[in-house]
Amino acid sequence: MKERNHIVITRRIPQAGMDVLEASDARVTVVQTDEEKGLSHQEIVAAIESADVLLCQLTEPIGPEVLSANDRLLGIAQMAVGFDNVDVAAATERGIPVSNTPGVLTDTTADLTWALLLAVARRIPEAHEYMVAGRYALWGPNLLHGYDVSPGGSGRRKVLGIVGYGRIGQAVARRAVGFDMEVLAHDPFNRDGIEADEIATWADLPELLSRSDFVSLHPALTDETHHLIGEEELRAMKPTACLVNVSRGPVIDEEALVRALSEGWIGGAALDVYEDEPAMKPGLAECPNAVLVPHVGSATRDTRGRMASMAATNALAHLERRRAPNCVNPGVYDTEAYRRRVGG
Ligand code: GLV
Repeated sequence: MKERNHIVITRRIPQAGMDVLEASDARVTVVQTDEEKGLSHQEIVAAIESADVLLCQLTEPIGPEVLSANDRLLGIAQMAVGFDNVDVAAATERGIPVSNTPGVLTDTTADLTWALLLAVARRIPEAHEYMVAGRYALWGPNLLHGYDVSPGGSGRRKVLGIVGYGRIGQAVARRAVGFDMEVLAHDPFNRDGIEADEIATWADLPELLSRSDFVSLHPALTDETHHLIGEEELRAMKPTACLVNVSRGPVIDEEALVRALSEGWIGGAALDVYEDEPAMKPGLAECPNAVLVPHVGSATRDTRGRMASMAATNALAHLERRRAPNCVNPGVYDTEAYRRRVGG
Protein backbone atom coordinates (compact mmCIF):
# COMPACT_ATOMS: atom_id res chain seq x y z
CA MET A 1 0.00 0.00 0.00
CA LYS A 2 1.20 3.51 -0.89
CA GLU A 3 2.34 5.80 1.87
CA ARG A 4 0.06 8.72 2.64
CA ASN A 5 -2.89 7.46 0.68
CA HIS A 6 -5.79 7.97 3.05
CA ILE A 7 -8.69 10.32 2.32
CA VAL A 8 -10.95 10.81 5.33
CA ILE A 9 -14.46 12.07 4.58
CA THR A 10 -16.18 13.55 7.60
CA ARG A 11 -19.76 12.84 6.49
CA ARG A 12 -21.23 10.72 3.70
CA ILE A 13 -21.16 12.59 0.37
CA PRO A 14 -23.28 12.03 -2.77
CA GLN A 15 -22.32 8.95 -4.78
CA ALA A 16 -20.90 11.01 -7.68
CA GLY A 17 -18.08 12.02 -5.35
CA MET A 18 -17.58 8.49 -4.05
CA ASP A 19 -17.36 7.29 -7.68
CA VAL A 20 -14.43 9.64 -8.32
CA LEU A 21 -12.62 8.37 -5.24
CA GLU A 22 -13.44 4.72 -5.88
CA ALA A 23 -11.91 5.01 -9.35
CA SER A 24 -8.62 6.04 -7.72
CA ASP A 25 -6.37 3.88 -5.59
CA ALA A 26 -6.84 6.05 -2.51
CA ARG A 27 -7.97 4.44 0.72
CA VAL A 28 -11.20 6.14 1.74
CA THR A 29 -12.89 6.29 5.13
CA VAL A 30 -16.23 7.94 5.88
CA VAL A 31 -16.39 8.94 9.55
CA GLN A 32 -20.08 9.65 10.00
CA THR A 33 -22.66 7.80 7.92
CA ASP A 34 -25.69 8.85 9.96
CA GLU A 35 -27.18 11.78 8.00
CA GLU A 36 -28.66 13.30 11.15
CA LYS A 37 -25.42 13.42 13.12
CA GLY A 38 -22.46 15.74 12.91
CA LEU A 39 -18.96 15.27 14.29
CA SER A 40 -17.86 16.44 17.73
CA HIS A 41 -14.67 18.46 18.09
CA GLN A 42 -12.87 15.31 19.28
CA GLU A 43 -14.12 13.39 16.26
CA ILE A 44 -12.88 16.09 13.90
CA VAL A 45 -9.45 16.03 15.57
CA ALA A 46 -9.39 12.22 15.36
CA ALA A 47 -10.42 12.40 11.68
CA ILE A 48 -7.55 14.79 10.92
CA GLU A 49 -5.06 12.69 12.86
CA SER A 50 -5.77 9.65 10.74
CA ALA A 51 -6.09 11.52 7.41
CA ASP A 52 -3.62 12.32 4.66
CA VAL A 53 -6.37 14.48 3.13
CA LEU A 54 -9.57 15.58 4.83
CA LEU A 55 -12.77 16.02 2.78
CA CYS A 56 -15.08 18.08 4.97
CA GLN A 57 -18.35 19.98 5.17
CA LEU A 58 -19.26 23.51 6.23
CA THR A 59 -20.61 22.11 9.52
CA GLU A 60 -17.09 21.30 10.77
CA PRO A 61 -15.03 24.06 12.38
CA ILE A 62 -11.41 23.56 11.30
CA GLY A 63 -9.38 25.92 13.47
CA PRO A 64 -5.69 26.08 14.47
CA GLU A 65 -5.97 23.34 17.07
CA VAL A 66 -7.54 20.92 14.60
CA LEU A 67 -4.98 21.85 11.94
CA SER A 68 -2.13 21.23 14.33
CA ALA A 69 -3.29 17.66 14.99
CA ASN A 70 -1.43 16.25 11.97
CA ASP A 71 1.74 17.77 10.53
CA ARG A 72 1.60 15.36 7.59
CA LEU A 73 -1.88 16.37 6.40
CA LEU A 74 -1.67 17.14 2.66
CA GLY A 75 -4.80 19.17 2.17
CA ILE A 76 -8.36 20.01 3.03
CA ALA A 77 -11.09 19.64 0.44
CA GLN A 78 -14.27 21.39 1.49
CA MET A 79 -17.50 20.40 -0.27
CA ALA A 80 -18.98 23.92 -0.42
CA VAL A 81 -18.21 27.25 -2.01
CA GLY A 82 -18.11 29.02 1.38
CA PHE A 83 -15.21 28.06 3.62
CA ASP A 84 -15.59 30.34 6.64
CA ASN A 85 -15.52 27.25 8.88
CA VAL A 86 -11.88 26.70 7.90
CA ASP A 87 -9.21 29.00 9.31
CA VAL A 88 -7.44 29.47 5.98
CA ALA A 89 -4.74 31.75 7.41
CA ALA A 90 -3.84 29.09 9.97
CA ALA A 91 -3.85 26.42 7.23
CA THR A 92 -1.57 28.52 5.01
CA GLU A 93 0.81 29.16 7.87
CA ARG A 94 1.10 25.41 8.32
CA GLY A 95 1.54 24.75 4.57
CA ILE A 96 -1.88 23.14 4.06
CA PRO A 97 -3.76 23.78 0.79
CA VAL A 98 -7.52 24.28 1.19
CA SER A 99 -9.97 23.83 -1.69
CA ASN A 100 -13.67 24.54 -2.24
CA THR A 101 -16.32 23.94 -4.91
CA PRO A 102 -17.05 27.27 -6.63
CA GLY A 103 -19.13 27.88 -9.75
CA VAL A 104 -21.19 24.70 -9.94
CA LEU A 105 -23.74 25.87 -7.37
CA THR A 106 -24.17 29.43 -8.62
CA ASP A 107 -27.40 28.91 -10.58
CA THR A 108 -28.91 26.52 -8.07
CA THR A 109 -28.34 28.98 -5.23
CA ALA A 110 -29.64 31.90 -7.29
CA ASP A 111 -32.76 29.85 -8.06
CA LEU A 112 -33.32 29.22 -4.35
CA THR A 113 -32.88 32.93 -3.68
CA TRP A 114 -35.72 33.61 -6.07
CA ALA A 115 -37.85 30.82 -4.66
CA LEU A 116 -37.48 32.44 -1.23
CA LEU A 117 -38.01 35.96 -2.51
CA LEU A 118 -41.23 34.98 -4.26
CA ALA A 119 -42.34 32.85 -1.31
CA VAL A 120 -42.00 35.70 1.18
CA ALA A 121 -43.43 38.30 -1.20
CA ARG A 122 -46.51 36.20 -2.01
CA ARG A 123 -46.83 34.53 1.41
CA ILE A 124 -46.64 31.03 -0.06
CA PRO A 125 -46.01 29.13 3.22
CA GLU A 126 -48.94 30.90 4.91
CA ALA A 127 -51.15 30.15 1.91
CA HIS A 128 -50.06 26.50 1.93
CA GLU A 129 -50.83 26.18 5.64
CA TYR A 130 -54.22 27.79 5.07
CA MET A 131 -55.04 25.15 2.46
CA VAL A 132 -53.81 22.11 4.35
CA ALA A 133 -55.64 23.30 7.47
CA GLY A 134 -58.86 23.16 5.43
CA ARG A 135 -59.52 26.88 5.94
CA TYR A 136 -60.23 27.71 2.29
CA ALA A 137 -64.01 28.06 2.25
CA LEU A 138 -64.55 31.06 -0.04
CA TRP A 139 -62.43 33.07 -2.49
CA GLY A 140 -61.72 36.42 -0.86
CA PRO A 141 -60.84 39.81 -2.33
CA ASN A 142 -58.85 40.56 0.81
CA LEU A 143 -57.26 37.17 1.31
CA LEU A 144 -53.49 36.87 1.83
CA HIS A 145 -52.34 40.06 0.18
CA GLY A 146 -48.61 40.05 -0.48
CA TYR A 147 -46.15 42.30 -2.27
CA ASP A 148 -45.58 42.62 -6.00
CA VAL A 149 -42.21 41.61 -7.37
CA SER A 150 -42.96 42.82 -10.91
CA PRO A 151 -44.39 46.34 -11.31
CA GLY A 152 -47.87 44.82 -10.80
CA GLY A 153 -50.81 46.97 -9.77
CA SER A 154 -48.73 49.99 -8.80
CA GLY A 155 -46.93 50.12 -12.13
CA ARG A 156 -43.76 51.01 -10.22
CA ARG A 157 -40.66 48.95 -10.99
CA LYS A 158 -39.63 47.27 -7.77
CA VAL A 159 -36.10 47.70 -6.50
CA LEU A 160 -33.92 44.70 -5.72
CA GLY A 161 -30.84 45.47 -3.62
CA ILE A 162 -28.09 42.88 -3.86
CA VAL A 163 -25.38 42.95 -1.20
CA GLY A 164 -22.36 40.97 -2.35
CA TYR A 165 -22.02 41.03 -6.14
CA GLY A 166 -19.97 37.92 -6.80
CA ARG A 167 -21.03 34.94 -8.90
CA ILE A 168 -24.27 34.25 -7.01
CA GLY A 169 -25.26 37.91 -6.56
CA GLN A 170 -24.84 38.43 -10.32
CA ALA A 171 -26.89 35.32 -11.13
CA VAL A 172 -29.66 36.68 -8.89
CA ALA A 173 -29.50 39.99 -10.77
CA ARG A 174 -29.84 38.26 -14.16
CA ARG A 175 -33.08 36.66 -13.01
CA ALA A 176 -34.43 40.06 -11.92
CA VAL A 177 -34.53 41.20 -15.55
CA GLY A 178 -37.50 38.93 -16.15
CA PHE A 179 -39.39 40.67 -13.35
CA ASP A 180 -38.60 44.12 -14.78
CA MET A 181 -36.90 45.21 -11.57
CA GLU A 182 -34.43 47.98 -10.93
CA VAL A 183 -31.32 46.38 -9.46
CA LEU A 184 -28.98 48.10 -7.00
CA ALA A 185 -25.80 46.38 -5.89
CA HIS A 186 -23.24 46.91 -3.18
CA ASP A 187 -19.94 45.08 -2.89
CA PRO A 188 -16.78 46.86 -1.76
CA PHE A 189 -14.70 44.15 -3.48
CA ASN A 190 -16.42 44.54 -6.85
CA ARG A 191 -17.23 48.23 -7.27
CA ASP A 192 -15.64 48.31 -10.73
CA GLY A 193 -17.60 45.23 -11.76
CA ILE A 194 -20.86 46.80 -10.60
CA GLU A 195 -20.09 50.09 -12.32
CA ALA A 196 -19.46 48.23 -15.57
CA ASP A 197 -22.49 45.96 -15.09
CA GLU A 198 -25.42 46.13 -17.50
CA ILE A 199 -28.04 45.13 -14.98
CA ALA A 200 -27.09 46.58 -11.60
CA THR A 201 -26.29 50.11 -10.45
CA TRP A 202 -23.82 50.74 -7.63
CA ALA A 203 -25.32 51.97 -4.34
CA ASP A 204 -23.82 52.56 -0.93
CA LEU A 205 -25.32 50.30 1.69
CA PRO A 206 -27.56 52.94 3.33
CA GLU A 207 -28.99 53.98 -0.05
CA LEU A 208 -29.51 50.36 -1.09
CA LEU A 209 -31.29 49.56 2.17
CA SER A 210 -33.56 52.59 2.11
CA ARG A 211 -34.55 52.25 -1.56
CA SER A 212 -34.98 48.49 -1.96
CA ASP A 213 -38.23 46.56 -1.91
CA PHE A 214 -36.20 43.37 -1.63
CA VAL A 215 -32.73 43.04 -0.18
CA SER A 216 -30.78 39.88 -0.97
CA LEU A 217 -27.54 39.02 0.84
CA HIS A 218 -24.63 37.26 -0.91
CA PRO A 219 -21.36 38.23 0.78
CA ALA A 220 -18.80 35.79 2.13
CA LEU A 221 -18.79 35.65 5.93
CA THR A 222 -15.78 37.57 7.24
CA ASP A 223 -15.08 39.77 10.26
CA GLU A 224 -16.29 42.71 8.13
CA THR A 225 -19.59 41.10 7.14
CA HIS A 226 -20.43 39.66 10.57
CA HIS A 227 -23.71 41.40 11.61
CA LEU A 228 -23.56 43.54 8.47
CA ILE A 229 -27.33 43.76 8.85
CA GLY A 230 -28.19 44.76 12.41
CA GLU A 231 -30.81 46.93 14.09
CA GLU A 232 -29.68 50.14 12.38
CA GLU A 233 -29.73 48.58 8.92
CA LEU A 234 -33.09 46.87 9.48
CA ARG A 235 -34.59 50.14 10.68
CA ALA A 236 -33.24 51.81 7.52
CA MET A 237 -35.27 49.45 5.30
CA LYS A 238 -38.80 50.18 4.11
CA PRO A 239 -41.55 48.78 6.36
CA THR A 240 -42.75 46.80 3.35
CA ALA A 241 -39.32 45.48 2.30
CA CYS A 242 -38.35 41.81 2.44
CA LEU A 243 -34.90 40.54 3.34
CA VAL A 244 -33.51 37.33 1.82
CA ASN A 245 -30.39 35.57 3.09
CA VAL A 246 -28.83 32.56 1.40
CA SER A 247 -25.24 33.48 2.34
CA ARG A 248 -24.26 32.81 5.96
CA GLY A 249 -26.39 33.31 9.05
CA PRO A 250 -24.06 35.59 11.06
CA VAL A 251 -24.25 38.23 8.31
CA ILE A 252 -27.56 39.18 10.02
CA ASP A 253 -27.98 39.99 13.70
CA GLU A 254 -30.79 37.46 14.04
CA GLU A 255 -32.09 38.78 17.37
CA ALA A 256 -32.54 42.20 15.79
CA LEU A 257 -34.25 40.53 12.83
CA VAL A 258 -36.78 38.82 15.11
CA ARG A 259 -37.65 42.25 16.55
CA ALA A 260 -37.80 43.76 13.06
CA LEU A 261 -40.24 41.07 11.93
CA SER A 262 -42.43 41.06 15.00
CA GLU A 263 -42.55 44.85 15.37
CA GLY A 264 -43.06 45.55 11.65
CA TRP A 265 -39.85 47.45 10.88
CA ILE A 266 -39.73 45.38 7.67
CA GLY A 267 -42.32 43.41 5.72
CA GLY A 268 -40.77 39.95 5.82
CA ALA A 269 -37.68 37.80 5.64
CA ALA A 270 -36.73 34.56 3.95
CA LEU A 271 -33.77 32.69 5.34
CA ASP A 272 -31.76 29.68 4.27
CA VAL A 273 -29.06 30.22 6.91
CA TYR A 274 -29.03 31.05 10.64
CA GLU A 275 -26.72 32.73 13.06
CA ASP A 276 -26.37 29.68 15.34
CA GLU A 277 -27.19 27.11 12.70
CA PRO A 278 -28.99 24.75 13.02
CA ALA A 279 -30.66 26.62 15.92
CA MET A 280 -32.85 29.66 15.39
CA LYS A 281 -33.00 32.64 17.72
CA PRO A 282 -36.06 32.59 20.02
CA GLY A 283 -39.15 33.97 18.35
CA LEU A 284 -38.04 33.53 14.74
CA ALA A 285 -40.10 30.38 14.13
CA GLU A 286 -43.21 32.18 15.40
CA CYS A 287 -42.97 35.08 12.93
CA PRO A 288 -45.63 34.53 10.23
CA ASN A 289 -43.72 36.85 7.89
CA ALA A 290 -40.58 34.67 7.99
CA VAL A 291 -40.00 31.95 5.41
CA LEU A 292 -37.47 29.48 6.79
CA VAL A 293 -35.62 26.66 5.04
CA PRO A 294 -32.72 24.48 6.28
CA HIS A 295 -29.62 25.64 4.32
CA VAL A 296 -30.64 24.03 1.03
CA GLY A 297 -29.23 26.69 -1.34
CA SER A 298 -27.28 24.18 -3.43
CA ALA A 299 -29.46 21.17 -2.66
CA THR A 300 -30.40 19.69 -6.00
CA ARG A 301 -29.40 16.19 -7.01
CA ASP A 302 -27.27 17.35 -9.92
CA THR A 303 -25.55 20.21 -8.13
CA ARG A 304 -24.75 18.33 -4.95
CA GLY A 305 -23.40 15.53 -7.17
CA ARG A 306 -21.15 18.00 -9.00
CA MET A 307 -19.99 19.53 -5.72
CA ALA A 308 -19.13 16.08 -4.37
CA SER A 309 -17.18 15.11 -7.48
CA MET A 310 -15.34 18.46 -7.46
CA ALA A 311 -14.43 18.03 -3.81
CA ALA A 312 -13.24 14.49 -4.55
CA THR A 313 -11.13 15.71 -7.49
CA ASN A 314 -9.59 18.37 -5.27
CA ALA A 315 -8.94 15.79 -2.55
CA LEU A 316 -7.11 13.53 -5.01
CA ALA A 317 -5.00 16.47 -6.19
CA HIS A 318 -4.06 17.24 -2.58
CA LEU A 319 -3.20 13.59 -2.03
CA GLU A 320 -1.02 13.42 -5.14
CA ARG A 321 0.73 16.70 -4.22
CA ARG A 322 -0.65 18.41 -7.34
CA ARG A 323 -2.14 21.90 -7.37
CA ALA A 324 -5.80 21.46 -6.49
CA PRO A 325 -8.05 22.87 -9.23
CA ASN A 326 -10.00 24.95 -6.70
CA CYS A 327 -7.40 25.92 -4.13
CA VAL A 328 -8.45 28.99 -2.12
CA ASN A 329 -4.93 29.68 -0.79
CA PRO A 330 -2.74 29.01 -3.87
CA GLY A 331 0.10 31.06 -2.39
CA VAL A 332 0.65 28.10 -0.05
CA TYR A 333 2.35 26.14 -2.84
CA ASP A 334 5.28 28.59 -2.78
CA THR A 335 5.85 28.32 0.96
CA GLU A 336 8.59 26.49 2.76
CA ALA A 337 5.92 25.13 5.12
CA TYR A 338 4.21 23.40 2.18
CA ARG A 339 7.47 22.01 0.80
CA ARG A 340 8.37 20.61 4.20
CA ARG A 341 4.93 19.12 4.62
CA VAL A 342 4.73 17.35 1.27
CA GLY A 343 8.35 16.27 1.33
CA GLY A 344 8.24 14.86 4.84
C1 GLV B 1 -23.19 26.45 0.88
O1 GLV B 1 -23.62 27.16 1.74
C2 GLV B 1 -21.90 26.59 0.31
O2 GLV B 1 -21.12 27.44 0.76
O3 GLV B 1 -21.59 25.85 -0.64
